[in-house]
Amino acid sequence: MCGIVGYVGPRSALDVIIEGLRRLEYRGYDSAGVALIAGGKLESERRAGKLANLEAALAEHPMSEANTGIGHTRWATHGAPTDRNAHPHLDCTGSLAVIHNGIIENFARLRAGLEERGHELTSDTDTEAVAHLLEEEFPAADGDLAEALRRVCRKLQGAFTLVVTHVDAPDVVVGARRNSPLVVGRGDGENFLASDVSAFIAHTREAVELGQDQVVEIRRDGVTVTDFDGNPATSREYHVDWDASAAEKGGYDWFMLKEIEEQPQAVADTLLGRIDVAGRLSLDEMRLSDEELREIDKIIVIACGTAFHAGLIAKYAIEHWTRIPCEVELASEFRYRDPILDRQTLVIAISQSGETMDLLMALRHARDQGSRVLAICNTNGSTIPRESDAVLYTHAGPEVAVASTKGFLTQLVACYLVALYLGQVRGTKWGDEITSVVDDLRAMPGKIAQVLEGMEPVRELARELCEERSVLFLGRHVGYPVALEGALKLKELAYIHAEGFAAGELKHGPIALIENGLPVIAIVPPPRGRNILHDKIVSNIQEVRARGARAIVIAEEGDTTVDAIADHVIRIPSAPTLLQPLLSTVPLQVFACELASAKGHDVDQPRNLAKSVTVE
Ligand code: G6P
Repeated sequence: MCGIVGYVGPRSALDVIIEGLRRLEYRGYDSAGVALIAGGKLESERRAGKLANLEAALAEHPMSEANTGIGHTRWATHGAPTDRNAHPHLDCTGSLAVIHNGIIENFARLRAGLEERGHELTSDTDTEAVAHLLEEEFPAADGDLAEALRRVCRKLQGAFTLVVTHVDAPDVVVGARRNSPLVVGRGDGENFLASDVSAFIAHTREAVELGQDQVVEIRRDGVTVTDFDGNPATSREYHVDWDASAAEKGGYDWFMLKEIEEQPQAVADTLLGRIDVAGRLSLDEMRLSDEELREIDKIIVIACGTAFHAGLIAKYAIEHWTRIPCEVELASEFRYRDPILDRQTLVIAISQSGETMDLLMALRHARDQGSRVLAICNTNGSTIPRESDAVLYTHAGPEVAVASTKGFLTQLVACYLVALYLGQVRGTKWGDEITSVVDDLRAMPGKIAQVLEGMEPVRELARELCEERSVLFLGRHVGYPVALEGALKLKELAYIHAEGFAAGELKHGPIALIENGLPVIAIVPPPRGRNILHDKIVSNIQEVRARGARAIVIAEEGDTTVDAIADHVIRIPSAPTLLQPLLSTVPLQVFACELASAKGHDVDQPRNLAKSVTVE
């Protein structure tokens, strides 16, 4: 949520910043702005709307050449997304500029104090208060910008990443973080600050992960990190194992399309190196001992959005393979219901970004109660894995489109691996049973590729249905969370009413929604082994069809029972029931993407959304 870039070095700061903001725009796109220090002056430009609006303004009124600067792309919290509320925010004298990600919770009190002391605030934001506080502290800190920022941070409550530039400190940019993300990119004679590494990946792959409550100063020749009291602080240096091309569209119209197509590889990468020579699962990022895992008597999976749907599916695998009771809960609800947690509870926190604030707060609550937390995450060095007892990275590569696709499939694979691992260490699964599931998982990249090859009819159907006002999704067992995910994708991308139901619940209410021609998409489980779930959902499809619905059915190749009851059949390769979501979700991603495109929407940046939600 909100993208931040800071730069000091020999290049054109504006070019570096605009390029970085383009890569960070997925984080928020309500407005954008830059501030540069050039020739002893601070210059700033900001515009409501997408980055393109700012670029158009800069083309009309070019800024001076500068080597130091900051830039921001916003997802509005305090104050409407207008030019006036866009970042950067300046102090009364126009000497310093601040950009911010997060929410300063005590801003109203700070603002009132500033106004009493004669400051003139011109926006509705919480951020502007920081600019004026810095105006007061900069002289008091003898012109040391990092020290001024530390003094201000000690007065702030809430979550924030702040980055500041000052005309009287032209060769430094300083930043601070509490709860929100900030990473340093270490270059040769240049340094970068950003919300995530994608902003500077074209220039350096050497990064420094800042810890909680730290202030950083970057100069051309170095980086200094302290805590909020000015004591030297340690921070973790790491090498980013993907390059700039991974963060480009690579010829696709949308990042989402590219990321959907990357799923076979992403799933293969999540599985890579998890099975040792003896055929045993080894999750080397698992810092919890087998002993500790044997003590677990309850699992709670917490997550938000699409990751929550991965958690719902994980529950079926965890309980079936480990016989440990498992609950799944939205992170935003979790800590407010006073959950029963103790040392024997394993909390699994799933997050693509590793930044989602609701989840971070939930996991802190779990750890405070003594529970162990295992993070499943895609972003190396992000806050959630850093604050967990163990982490399993999904290695899906950067996911840029706001709607998660490869993030979701790889989260599923990671959940299956965790469940199998628990089954292994607790002895609820025989070695050969584990090997057999692992073999099934290893076959999935090929099967996902097969699904992707057959997607043209799904795209055609999406174009045909693009004027529909409502679409329902039905599933049972693991197909139920898939239905929820299909509906979420359609809502967030196409802005139409879409709902997922447990097919058995139809008769308890939702069936009243069925009217002539209403598209209903049903996920049909494998028919093998007299699968009772299969027969039940076939009946449910007949029930909606009898009431006029247009039945669109996702079913296995060779499942002929659906031919007579479906208006359209989307075929997927056969897979074990528990693993079927890895295949059945894919057509729903393609369907939503194509339908939204046909409606002329921006698929990668749907309205009102942001990819990393760093506010509660
Ligand atoms: C936002 C995104 C969703 C994502 C959710 C959780 O709402 O738009 O696509 O599923 O956050 O994000 P996380 O990074 O924690 O998986």
